[in-house]
Amino acid sequence: MAIEVKKLFDNLKDSKLVEGEEIEVSGWVKTNRPSGQIGFLELHDGTCFKSLQVVYDPTKADDVAHFRTGAAIIVRGVLHLTPELKQPFELHLSNATLVGDVDDDYPLQKKRASFEFLREQAHLRPRANTFQAVYRIRSVLAMAIHTFFQEHGFVYVHTPIITGNDAEGAGQVFTVATEGKNPYTDFFGCRASLTVSGQLHVEPFALAFKNVYTFGPTFRAEKSNTTRHASEFWMIEPELAFAHLEEDMECIEKMLKFCLQYVLEHCPDEMMFCEKFIAPGLLEKLNHVLKSSFQRMTYTEAIEILKKAVQNSHKFVVNEINWGMDLQSEHERYLTEEVAKGPLFLTDYPKEIKAFYMKNNPDGKTVAACDLLVPGEGEIVGGSEREVRYDVLKEKMEKAGNEEGLKWYLDLRRFGSAPHAGFGLGFDRFLMYITGINNIRDVQPYPRTSNALKY
Ligand code: 4AD
Ligand code: MG
Repeated sequence: MAIEVKKLFDNLKDSKLVEGEEIEVSGWVKTNRPSGQIGFLELHDGTCFKSLQVVYDPTKADDVAHFRTGAAIIVRGVLHLTPELKQPFELHLSNATLVGDVDDDYPLQKKRASFEFLREQAHLRPRANTFQAVYRIRSVLAMAIHTFFQEHGFVYVHTPIITGNDAEGAGQVFTVATEGKNPYTDFFGCRASLTVSGQLHVEPFALAFKNVYTFGPTFRAEKSNTTRHASEFWMIEPELAFAHLEEDMECIEKMLKFCLQYVLEHCPDEMMFCEKFIAPGLLEKLNHVLKSSFQRMTYTEAIEILKKAVQNSHKFVVNEINWGMDLQSEHERYLTEEVAKGPLFLTDYPKEIKAFYMKNNPDGKTVAACDLLVPGEGEIVGGSEREVRYDVLKEKMEKAGNEEGLKWYLDLRRFGSAPHAGFGLGFDRFLMYITGINNIRDVQPYPRTSNALKY
């Protein structure tokens, strides 16, 4: 009977594994150690993190003794329960087929190849342990996000990838062009770009369905070349109608905790691997986050704290701290790592450094925004309550110079407008936080950054 390795472990858990049963398993050789009368071949089939131990007699199966790491094979044999050994069961080989051999220059020979090396092997690295863990967690995390929102009655909206606006107004768009005389305008009759955010397109749906979310790819032509910026990344953007900044932050905290819990429950082996080989202390950190409330601090308070840190001889690269400045990642990390020692909401930023759609606070200087900062990374969520006063928004749009193309967005404030708030969670950054991986290039299947498009 052909069976997958995951099913074998599931059966073991349900006490349904039958001693002496004949089975067939297909997969890839992970390790192969023939010695004398007994050989051990570790077979990985990708259906779960664990492998199947295949035991054989090299004197009788000379071909099997020569199977190489990475080769695709099919094995048949008899199951033996081995509760006394490290692995709870093994397959005693009766017959094996080599389906796809491996050339000598197979790049994944070495036990511990560096992340940098593996980045150049994006077509093969899914087979390496780290990426088996990371990519499966990535898949499960996506499911966690949908589960959370669907269970809370949010409607999933597919916002467009091609758009005519730059929602964030940061000028980091990739332009969409076609072949022809006027490559930028021939097709749509106006300039088009890849979306930097689904927010402006999802807000109208919040004013129709109340609670909605987008979850899709987002593009930014940032040449930052940091470990946290990619040109293409996935973002979750919920929008809640009849909600203010407070409800927005409650939603962020509830969603993040739900997803953490979900991954810990659904990927115990993968998470244990991350704990052991990627970020020791990870599980304790995540479990602590689950149990504690996220702290909050206003931008103005944060500036005071940073100024004090500098007075007390802390050295930042950008060491001049002024109210009104855009915080650098080093400042964010200081606040979340040294001060809060955990996730931290920073709220009420100066309006000059935030996007036009954020609601002006009564103080005339700040907006009702919140960023969630986490240790090791800095910002992973950016959110805000939206400006819903027609005149105020119009003025902000005029100032930002985007009134022309976004008349429909302003119109929402004339037709049954209601307070609403939302946020954007960087999916890849959240995955980094959960796995302890510290470069965004190592949580994306095919990372896109400037000067890197091999795949
Ligand atoms: O703070 P941002 O720019 O917020 C928005 O786009 C809003 N429209 C969200 C909203 O209110 N609906 O981006 C949100 C998050 C960031 O906190 C970060 O986690 C992630 O998106 N992000 C990136 N992730 C990877 N690479 C990049 N270049 C990123 N830029 C932003
Ligand atoms: Mg932001």
